[in-house]
Amino acid sequence: MAHANGQQAVRVGIVGCGGIGRTHLRAYRNNRIAPVALVDAVPASAEAAAQEYGGQPYGDYREMFAQANLDAISVCTPPNVHREISVAALEAGIAVLCEKPMTTTLEDAEAIEQAAESTGRLFMPGHCHRFQPHVERVRQLIDAGELGLPRMFRFRIGFSFPKAQNSWFSDPDIAGGGILIDTHVHTVDVFRYLIGEVEQVTALTSTVDTPLGPALRVEDSAIMTVRSTEGALGVMEASWRTQPPEVQLTVYGTAARATVDYRSMQLRVQGAEDSEPRVVEVEEGNRFDREVAHFLACVRGEQSPRLTARDGVTAIRILMEAYRSQGVAVGG
Ligand SMILES: NC(=O)c1ccc[n+]([C@@H]2O[C@H](COP(=O)([O-])OP(=O)(O)OC[C@H]3O[C@@H](n4cnc5c(N)ncnc54)[C@H](O)[C@@H]3O)[C@@H](O)[C@H]2O)c1
Repeated sequence: MAHANGQQAVRVGIVGCGGIGRTHLRAYRNNRIAPVALVDAVPASAEAAAQEYGGQPYGDYREMFAQANLDAISVCTPPNVHREISVAALEAGIAVLCEKPMTTTLEDAEAIEQAAESTGRLFMPGHCHRFQPHVERVRQLIDAGELGLPRMFRFRIGFSFPKAQNSWFSDPDIAGGGILIDTHVHTVDVFRYLIGEVEQVTALTSTVDTPLGPALRVEDSAIMTVRSTEGALGVMEASWRTQPPEVQLTVYGTAARATVDYRSMQLRVQGAEDSEPRVVEVEEGNRFDREVAHFLACVRGEQSPRLTARDGVTAIRILMEAYRSQGVAVGG
């Protein structure tokens, strides 16, 4: 790692310069890091991103790992290639921040965890909602006892996503499934962060022709119910085919209820005696900027990772059990 202005400049590469690749590029820029190298299966995408953010464009990640002397990468490709790219990076001594879902099968997730263990390199799954300041604030309220004993959890993510029907998002071989693996990977991780480990899970999924688009090859809507080892219950709802957009997380405790509304970006708490919810102040911050800041600090050895390969493996295991619970064989 080179030194610039007294701070270690981490040599970062980006693998996959599509939608979320651009989000990572902005997050590194907001952390005053320009990429050293970028790669995309479509060379023009890497070249366009390099024009805008700097760095050497590549057409093959193996070549990039061999030549660019990288400390760290963000893996921002579709999920079916997360394993091969992450394992190759770890074996080349490169730390990995990998977009969710970690993989499309449990076997692939465990192979990455094994590679992280045997190389001693950092692998962090991109479970970005842990870095959402409002979610962190809910965790602080729980830790301070302000909600009482958390008994129930509800997270709904619903919106219209026309891209699903004509992209890899609805190709089970690339995505590993539909909205259950794509979106509930976030809600499962937030449940584990706020409430505890998942002991039991069930799911129901569906896809039908709708005015928002035709039935898909994967589920467009999914609900999951979970129970924690401490007996708290969670309901997780997600749909690519409901309007208006709604992203809302609620933790129900014995003393109070806390709700994060991602549309208004507000955290509201209401206790048993309160006639109205009160808005709780939350520090400003973008979850991707904060996720990347933490990843960089871990690569520099300044912080210990809040998320490791184990968290990615655990989320994939729960999601695979959710698919199995309704008798549909997807992924693992
Ligand atoms: N954290 C979040 O909130 C969030 C949001 C959106 C997407 N994602 C995740 O990010 C990942 C990418 O999603 P996206 O929306 O950016 O998809 P996208 O299709 O917009 O971009 C993916 C890019 O990866 C490139 N690519 C594919 N295979 C490659 C390979 N072998 N080597 C190099 N490049 C390759 C594609 O050409 C494309 O440019 C997925 O895992 C997705 O689930 C996460």
